[in-house]
Amino acid sequence: PFSAVELAPRDPILGLNEQFNADSNPKKVNLGVGVYYDDAGKLPLLQCVAQAEQQMMQSPKARGYLPIDGIAAYDKAVQALVFGAGSEPVRSGRVATAQTLGGTGALKVGADFLRKINPAAKVLISDPSWENHRALFSQAGFTVETYPYYDATTRGLNFEGMLSALRKAEPGTIVVLHACCHNPTGYDITAPQWDQVVAACQSAQLVPFLDMAYQGFAQGIEEDGAVIGKFAAAGLTFLVATSFSKSFSLYGERVGGLSVLCQDKAEADRVLSQLKIAIRTNYSNPPTHGAAVVAAVLTNPELRALWERELGEMRLRIKQMRLALVEKLKAAGVKRDMGFITEQVGMFSYSGLTKDQMVRLREEFSVYGTDTGRMCVAALNSHNIDYVCESIAQVL
Ligand code: LMR
Repeated sequence: PFSAVELAPRDPILGLNEQFNADSNPKKVNLGVGVYYDDAGKLPLLQCVAQAEQQMMQSPKARGYLPIDGIAAYDKAVQALVFGAGSEPVRSGRVATAQTLGGTGALKVGADFLRKINPAAKVLISDPSWENHRALFSQAGFTVETYPYYDATTRGLNFEGMLSALRKAEPGTIVVLHACCHNPTGYDITAPQWDQVVAACQSAQLVPFLDMAYQGFAQGIEEDGAVIGKFAAAGLTFLVATSFSKSFSLYGERVGGLSVLCQDKAEADRVLSQLKIAIRTNYSNPPTHGAAVVAAVLTNPELRALWERELGEMRLRIKQMRLALVEKLKAAGVKRDMGFITEQVGMFSYSGLTKDQMVRLREEFSVYGTDTGRMCVAALNSHNIDYVCESIAQVL
């Protein structure tokens, strides 16, 4: 039955890891996948995580099945983080939240749920967007189209284009928005622009699906979460995908959550019952460890403060790498103005390099970024940045 199966192309992001791992050049640098490394080039184990795990180890627990929607205390903590502890949506019980396998799992559970309730709806993603958005929503059965976002000619945003596409979309269209730290471009819209997006979603009766994989990496946890508050304050109902892969450096634990803000508690109960079907038929129920760690940190005031500090340090180091990148590219002889790198936020920089230049970077210098020119600045450090800048200068 498999003789006619075709070889699928490598994943545009995770496939780079395979190539990188097979590269024997000792100078190789992986700016492909969105992963934060510390200045020593190591994947950090956050102190707050290590401490929570030590506390958990003092009374080790057997691992039974979790409820389909995950650990109750975890789901509550996710809601508090996303909507604000004590906020009206949380107090009124009109948020349905389920623990998911990372942010991708949240998107997939949400996509399956949406497809069931409105199979004819279209999905709009930003142009460009995270490579997996299109793949994931198409795989869930949707027709996926784009709204303008980035304009390569001006190296900035095409906000008017975005807004008019949203205003023109048919009622019921699902619009995937990056809550902060836009992936891949690194360009976020401003708070007043968000107000206009909220108004457009409202008047065109769209279904916003906010992907928040980088909460805390732009300005701060609350500041980045403010976007969610805008949608809630406007009386919209919508979905939010949360990921703790980056903010807790728990990539391999697959810890995320899907929250659906509903009109009232009764609606939220019905929605949750449907999310549980999507989860049960995909992977039954989520794993125990990662979410238990995150719940322990978020519900313990000391560990929570420690987490905020550690997340703040990651955010600051990325900003410093952006500044250093601009300076060192100039020093390496790059003539074009690369100052836009410091206007971008989050883990990524859309460098403006062409596919050919990215391929040369990889093949001649073992510096890995995606073909679209995206580079993960969170993987730069004081030891590899000079080499990266010299390599970029060569291909430019
Ligand atoms: C990325 O865009 O590199 C990250 O979100 C990791 C992934 O799963 O692609």
